[in-house]
Amino acid sequence: MRRIPDSFVDEVRRRVDIVDVVSEYVQLRRTGRNFVGLCPFHNERSPSFSVSPERQVYYCFGCQAAGTVVRFVMDIEGLGFADAVAKLASRAGLELPFAVTDADGPAAPAGRMQRLREAHELAARAYNHILMNTAAGVQALTYLEARGLTRQTIALFRLGFAPESGDVIVRTLTRRGFDTETLVASGLVVRLGDRIVDRFRGRVMIPITDAQGHVVAFGGRTLSADAKPKYLNSPDTPIFRKGAVLFNQHQARRGIRATQTAVLLEGYMDVLSAWQAGVDNAVATLGTALTAEQAAVLKRYGQRLIIAYDGDSAGLAATERAMETAEQAGLEVRAVVLPDGADPDEFIRARGGQAFVSHMRTRAMSGLEFRLWRLREAAELQTDAGRTEFLRQALELLAERATPIEQETQLKKLSAEFQVSFEALRAELLSVRRRVSRKPAPALDLAAQTPPERDMPKGYVEAGNLLLQAMLTDPDCFELVLNRGVTELALPTQTALLALLYGFRADHPNGDMLAFLDTLEDPELIRLASSLMIKEPLQFDAKVLEDYLRTIRKHQLTVARQQALRALAQAQLDHDWDAVSRWKARLDELQQDIAELTSDPMNAGWRGKGGGEL
Ligand code: CTP
Ligand code: MN
Repeated sequence: MRRIPDSFVDEVRRRVDIVDVVSEYVQLRRTGRNFVGLCPFHNERSPSFSVSPERQVYYCFGCQAAGTVVRFVMDIEGLGFADAVAKLASRAGLELPFAVTDADGPAAPAGRMQRLREAHELAARAYNHILMNTAAGVQALTYLEARGLTRQTIALFRLGFAPESGDVIVRTLTRRGFDTETLVASGLVVRLGDRIVDRFRGRVMIPITDAQGHVVAFGGRTLSADAKPKYLNSPDTPIFRKGAVLFNQHQARRGIRATQTAVLLEGYMDVLSAWQAGVDNAVATLGTALTAEQAAVLKRYGQRLIIAYDGDSAGLAATERAMETAEQAGLEVRAVVLPDGADPDEFIRARGGQAFVSHMRTRAMSGLEFRLWRLREAAELQTDAGRTEFLRQALELLAERATPIEQETQLKKLSAEFQVSFEALRAELLSVRRRVSRKPAPALDLAAQTPPERDMPKGYVEAGNLLLQAMLTDPDCFELVLNRGVTELALPTQTALLALLYGFRADHPNGDMLAFLDTLEDPELIRLASSLMIKEPLQFDAKVLEDYLRTIRKHQLTVARQQALRALAQAQLDHDWDAVSRWKARLDELQQDIAELTSDPMNAGWRGKGGGEL
C-alpha cells in the first residue's frame, strides 16, 4: 500500500543519514569505511552490524538483517513502508504530501487517525489509573492478583478497569475536546438512544497495541463468572482491524527475532501468564482464527511458529486451521498439546513457567506429527476395523503431506506398531498416492530452492556476486552487463536480483539503487543486495567484467554439455537415431563455443548460437 510519490521518498532518503538514524538505537563506532555496532535484531556479544555512510545501507553479518534507512525504521519500529517514510520525513522536517495509509485500507486523513490514537492513549491511561489508584478498581485489582499477575506485569501491559458507571470515557474525552462523532468512531463509546455511553463497563481492560506500540483497541473481561460475553472487544475502526493485529505483537517482536520463533496462544491471559513466566515471544489472535495477514506479520519477524492453543477439542481443531494458514505463509510450524484440556495460563499456574517452556521444547510436534496424532486420537485402535481405518487415513495423510524422509520414518513406526510389513505399507502408500493428488507444497522461499552452493564451482557463484556488486554500485557497469544480454547467474537469488534490477531500470531510468533496494520484498534478495552494496568497493573495469562474464558463460556451457551428453546416451539406449544425430550436432556446437571462449574470450557472445535451448 504505497501511495507516496517516489520523488518524495527519494527526497527523504537524501535528507536523512542512515548513520544518524541507526545511532539512535545502536552505539556505532567507525572501522574503516563503515560503522559497526551490536545488532539490534539479534543477541550478540561482538559487533557484526555494519552501516555504510557511503552506500547508505546496513547489513548484519550475524543475522543478515539488511536494507536502507527506510527498511531499518520499518524493522526496528515494526512499521509499514508508508509509516516509516512518514517518521523519517518528520525527522527531516519535511511536510507529508500524503495521508499515512499502512494501518488500513481506505485512506483516512492522517489527522483523524492521529485523533483516534490519542483517544485510545487517553482511555488506556484513565482505565489504568482507575485500576491502580481508585476504590472503583479494588475488586478488579484483587481479581488480577488472584490470577497470579504481578504489579509489574499489570504495569507493563497497562491493564486497567472500566467501572460500571459507564461514562468515564465519555467525560474524559469530551473534556479533551473530542466530539461525539469521533468518540463513536473510536469504538470506545456507543450510542444509546440519544445519549452516548462507554462501550466497556465493569470490565478489566486489556490494551491492544499495533505494531508500533500505540494502543488501538481494547479487550475487556468481565469480573463476574456468568456475564456474557466473557470478553468484549473493540470493533474494527480506522486504526484497528482485528485480522491484521496480534495481541502483544509489539513487545514480542524482539523475542521472536532473537529466537526466530513466535509462540501463538489463544487468549490474552495466556500471553500475560507466559510473559510473566519468561516467554517473551508469545502473541495471540483477538478471538478469531489466525489470518493470512497475521501469519505474514509473524513470518516477517521470524521463521518458525509454535502453536500452543488450549488443549480442549476446540483448541485442537483451531490448531489445525492455524497450522494450515501459517504453513501457507511459509512458516515452519510446530504445535504442542497441553494435557487435560488446559490453556497455557492454567498450565503455567498449575505447573510453573519452567514446565511450560520445557513442554514446548520437548513436546512440540511437526505439522505432520500433529495431524497423525489427531487421527490417532480419533481412531478406535482396539478393533481390527478401527486399526485398518486408521492406517488408511494415516497413509492418505502421508501421501498428501509428507516428504520422502518423513514418509520413510513414519512407515517404519507404523510398521512396528501395527505389525504390518514395511513393504506392504509402502505398496499401499504408492497406490494411495496415485489416487490422492499431492497438495501443493507451501510456497517456498527462493532460498529454499537454491541448489547447494557447494555443488557449484566457487568461481561461478563469486563471479555472479561480483557482477551484481558492479551493477549495484556503478551505473557504467550496469550498462555494460545489460548490453551483453546476461539473463542468468549461478544462483536463483542472483538471477532474481538481476531480473528485478533490469525491471527497475526500465521503469526508473534514473532511479538510484537505494530506491531499488526499497522495492525489494523478499528478505533473501534484500540481504543479497545489501551485502553486496556494503562490501569493500572494487575497481570494476570492462576487462574485469569480461572475466566474470566469461566465467559465468563457461559454466553454463559446461552444464549444457553435460546435459547433452546424458541426452545422447539416453537416445543411444533408446535406439532413437534421429535424436542421436541431433544431440551429436548439439555437442559439436557446444564444444566449439567452449573452445572459442577459451581461446578468444572477447568474441564469445551471449547471444551467439547454442544459447539456452536446453
Ligand atoms: N474471546 C473473545 N470473545 C469472547 C471469548 C473469547 O474475543 N467472548 C477471545 C479473547 O481474546 C480470549 C480468547 O478468545 O482471550 C480465548 O478465550 P477463552 O479461552 O474463552 O478465554 P481465556 O483466555 O481462557 O480467558 P480467561 O482465562 O480469562 O477465562
Ligand atoms: Mn484461561
